[in-house]
Amino acid sequence: MPTPARLRLAPSLLSADFAALGDAVHAAEAGGADALHLDVMDGHFVPNLSFGPSLVAAVRSRTRLPLDVHLMIEEPQRYLEAFRNAGGDTLVFHLEARGEPAETVRAIHRLGARAGAAIRPDTPLDRAAPLLPELDQLLVMSVHPGFSGQKFLPEVLPKVEEGRRKLDAIGTGGYVSIDGGITPDTAVAAARAGATFFVCGNSVFAGGPVAGNLARLRSAVERGAADAVR
Ligand code: DX5
Ligand code: ZN
Repeated sequence: MPTPARLRLAPSLLSADFAALGDAVHAAEAGGADALHLDVMDGHFVPNLSFGPSLVAAVRSRTRLPLDVHLMIEEPQRYLEAFRNAGGDTLVFHLEARGEPAETVRAIHRLGARAGAAIRPDTPLDRAAPLLPELDQLLVMSVHPGFSGQKFLPEVLPKVEEGRRKLDAIGTGGYVSIDGGITPDTAVAAARAGATFFVCGNSVFAGGPVAGNLARLRSAVERGAADAVR
């Protein structure tokens, strides 16, 4: 079945084997991924450290898929240009990080990238509301950021519903992205709530062939979207 135009699966490379990253990128692309999600962590905004622009550039050299760079860093504005130059297509910053969010969005657009804003599970959607007309992606975190393989927090689903309603009303076609603990089961619930972009780490890379994992996620999001009540 063809993918409905607005549903996207983005495997998160944080869950891949870093010693064989090129293979993971290739498997995701061959398995039907729509984008790749790259989790940047600075040890301040979140307790974990991951990687910087040089790894994004290395991934860029191996794939034509859009690269979404999720900046879990304290000072996103300082690094936007570096991640854009490394090949990031969408730069997603956190509203809880430093800097004036509207200015961060403008800086991302000036670099010719798409802009995403992420909110932690305990951040209300109201914080993002004024930005929605300018955003290409609203990313609702469904785990506390910092680590892959955590359990999905269903209490964020009302924010997905509200975000979807607001974006539909504005009519920009921006994605509502969900990130954290997405499995075939939780993907159904997220799609039903109106998510259109699904970040999947462990459910893609932590066991079994990547293509089969992606196929199961694909059918789950299509099922959920089919009975989404809008
Ligand atoms: C968590 C990251 C997520 C994570 C997703 O801080 O933002 O992108 O890697 O991994 P899973 O799907 O395993 O929760
Ligand atoms: Zn992420």
